[in-house]
Amino acid sequence: MAEHTKKQSNYLCDVLVIGGGSAGLRAAIAAHDAGANVLIVSRSKRGDPHTTLARGGINAALGTMDPEDNWMMHASDTLSEGEFIADYEKVEVLCKNAPDTIMELVNWGATFHREKDGRLTQRFFGAHTYRRTVFYEDWTGLEIIRVLMEQVNKRKIKVIDNVYITKLLKSDNDGAGDGDAGHVNGALGVDIENKEFARFECKSLILAAGGYTRVYPVSSSRLFENYGEGIALAYEAGADLVDMEMVQFHPTGMVWPEKAVGVLATEAIRGEGGILLNSKGERFMKNYDPERMELAPRDVVARANYNEIISGRGTEHGGVWLDVTHLRKEVIQDRLPTMYEQFQELDGIDISKEKMEVAPTAHYSMGGVIVDMKCRTKIKGLLAVGEVTSQIHGANRLGGNSLLDTMVFGKIAGEEAAILAKQEVGDAKKTKAPSTRRESNVDNNQEKKEGFDDDYYGGIFAVKEPIKFRNEIQELMKQNAGIIREETRLQNGLKRILELKNEFYSKDNIIEVFKIDDNNSENIVITWQVKSSLVACEAIIRSALMRQESRGAHYRSDFPKLDDERFKVNIYCRKKGKKGVSAATAEMVLFKQNVKEIKGPFSDFLKEHVKAAHKREFE
Ligand code: FUM
Repeated sequence: MAEHTKKQSNYLCDVLVIGGGSAGLRAAIAAHDAGANVLIVSRSKRGDPHTTLARGGINAALGTMDPEDNWMMHASDTLSEGEFIADYEKVEVLCKNAPDTIMELVNWGATFHREKDGRLTQRFFGAHTYRRTVFYEDWTGLEIIRVLMEQVNKRKIKVIDNVYITKLLKSDNDGAGDGDAGHVNGALGVDIENKEFARFECKSLILAAGGYTRVYPVSSSRLFENYGEGIALAYEAGADLVDMEMVQFHPTGMVWPEKAVGVLATEAIRGEGGILLNSKGERFMKNYDPERMELAPRDVVARANYNEIISGRGTEHGGVWLDVTHLRKEVIQDRLPTMYEQFQELDGIDISKEKMEVAPTAHYSMGGVIVDMKCRTKIKGLLAVGEVTSQIHGANRLGGNSLLDTMVFGKIAGEEAAILAKQEVGDAKKTKAPSTRRESNVDNNQEKKEGFDDDYYGGIFAVKEPIKFRNEIQELMKQNAGIIREETRLQNGLKRILELKNEFYSKDNIIEVFKIDDNNSENIVITWQVKSSLVACEAIIRSALMRQESRGAHYRSDFPKLDDERFKVNIYCRKKGKKGVSAATAEMVLFKQNVKEIKGPFSDFLKEHVKAAHKREFE
């Protein structure tokens, strides 16, 4: 049956990296340098991943501006602003390795801002005790991607872009989270550019596929990224998700014009002295955090902005004012040139003369796949790194720590993946050619089981009008699981997500796909975004319901206090079900696990240094 034959390209490598952002690129470089042949597959265009939107900088306790700083101080800020649910050992690794990471980037040719005497400039970001954010103007992420791509190209690591991975392949195909976890040895996907299916075989696989903040309608992610694709792939394969309720709303996204809603107005604006005002002209942060004001932690500033807006002190377009008109124009143009252009181009204003209108925007997922210290999930052969993972930032991430996370743990993940790939080669035959490609035609002659059968579709199908699902999911997440949460709305949100899941996977909604063309490629992609969002949203809401307290980014108006006695825990989501069961029908089970107890010299340091607001931890 000709129409049931799919055109497919097949690829072979030792280490497959899913994601072309800084985490994926850094991991690929490390795996290559450890002797593996590596293939990077990315849904975005080469050199244009989400990382390029990371604006303000990357942290390290270099002490170039404030010599008193050290890695323990950095770790202490990270852990305490994460409200003590991060894995302290990961935080230690993050902060200890930060200075070397910056120096590596400098050696690779990264241009960072310097003082006249040659020292690297470090600026303030919110809730940091010292100035430790290294930056290049206000497009640090783009500069890091430039440098990493150079290293990738130098090593001739193959990058395939515009490919959407839809399913991870496993040796025994047991995707149940509570059973034998099996071994990941490849992936299936769709190549939107070449209009064909793609199959990858590997010895180990690194997921570096980003977060899940696009499940909200107002997000600093672009429309094509961060629907939870990475976490859904891992969950589907049987990995656990942790602390999924922890979604960071950045305090300052653009609110106007409509096409720019959610676009980031970098924290660097406040780091350079920008102030927040309500419609009455009051510098309202004095009422929320009089000491740190605009440089309070993101969760505090985001809720303050939100509160001003819903209390009727917002601007015409539903924001608050962010003001740098008191700064010298040269400072703005030297330190914030992209912001200067962005507001000029999108909003038609000159920020050196006029105030910016801003409001919270979904920005970062602190929750995600749980990994060990070597970035391994509990499934053999499957590693994860970057925003797709959890437990590094706890309940609230400090600005400038995510680029750092991708670089530090990217290196660790890549090295470990190469080791695992070598072990896997063991007595099996070694991969002969690096990243080879061959084409084939595949007859889809598997037998379809009753109900929705993801194995049969290989994760690739379309539904009728997926955009309707996507829009409704985003809106319901905003209404029911946004910046302020409470039981009834969360329950309503969960009910609707489960109804949508049934509708989405209903027999007459699924369209089987045998070829990819201009007529269906958009539907295939949006279907896949919805499929991923359904996993992410169910996990966010179920975890938010379980966490009956307020901690960091998770605020429950019905439980406004932090409750260490019951909730100094990490919340796990696990796919329960029999062998081969897919997320479409599997039950998501939740359980709590106590946070790792802080031990060793860092514990003594914390006792001495943690600021008053967090003293309770050690009382
Ligand atoms: O505001 C910003 O520039 C964002 C930085 C970050 O999220 O680390």
